[in-house]
Amino acid sequence: AERIIIDTDPGQDDAVAILLALASPDDIDVLGITAVAGNVPLELTALNARKICELAGRPDVRVFAGCDRPLRQPLVTAEHVHGKTGLDGPTLPDPTMPLQAGHGVDFIIDTLRTEPAGTVTLCPLGPLTNIATAFERAPDIAARVKRIVLMGGAYFEVGNITPAAEFNIYVDPEAARIVFASRAPLVVMPLDVTHKALVTRPRNAAFRALGTPAGIAVAQMTDFFERFDREKYGSDGAPLHDPCVIAWLLNPALFSGREINVEIETASPLTRGMTVADWWGVTDRPRNALFIGDLDADGFFTLLAERLARL
Ligand code: BDR
Ligand code: CA
Repeated sequence: AERIIIDTDPGQDDAVAILLALASPDDIDVLGITAVAGNVPLELTALNARKICELAGRPDVRVFAGCDRPLRQPLVTAEHVHGKTGLDGPTLPDPTMPLQAGHGVDFIIDTLRTEPAGTVTLCPLGPLTNIATAFERAPDIAARVKRIVLMGGAYFEVGNITPAAEFNIYVDPEAARIVFASRAPLVVMPLDVTHKALVTRPRNAAFRALGTPAGIAVAQMTDFFERFDREKYGSDGAPLHDPCVIAWLLNPALFSGREINVEIETASPLTRGMTVADWWGVTDRPRNALFIGDLDADGFFTLLAERLARL
């Protein structure tokens, strides 16, 4: 099984990603979950991560709180998308499982140092603050990472928080720059692909029809979360950004993309947080990421429903 650390700011789509991973224990071993400030402040993301583990029947998963603010700027949140709790939609009970005592960044460092090199995959689903802090504090660990599969950035789909930037990168561009320069193998799920993973009404109905607490909660979360994208983009449903990361691990053949150079803009106030993606290979800058552009949406939703049914 792929051994992963999920770094996350739940977030309804983060929640679905966590559920997909926990529903797939034969393929994915979740070593721990580190919460980061992003969609909502850290206290809420650390709480939401535990609510989701309990919803999955997995109170044994270790959940750590990480960084509560970006490296160099105040936190920008996204309650306008995710609601006040970050997880608006279903009513989930407060978790009884504990938050782990250590700091999320220490957990990332310790895990990468203790596990054999090249065996641990990082799955960042929020701003890259925890990962960048770990890489800065422990420069030896980037070379020990098997790969980083992350949700962030955009190319043809430009931005969802500014005209130029996607939310996860925009919230902490300095952190993103560190991660994209780390030389760890990178797989990137930008808006270009995640905007194709839409929970249409029939797909929502299929989740609800599972009749399980997880299936119903996913339907309720996407009911809430789709409002923003229906109104803003005229999307036919909620985009499941973060679950693309886990789905890629389960079946990379569902996705297609290109090995390209991606750099992060940090200076210009107009385009801060932009992922400057050399899709057409017009520079000779070194390739540092597999940048995904497309997915088999029906295959993705079949996989998701089939796995969620196991919870
Ligand atoms: C990303 O931002 C968050 O709102 C989502 O959880 C996703 O990780 C999409 O831009
Ligand atoms: Ca997220």
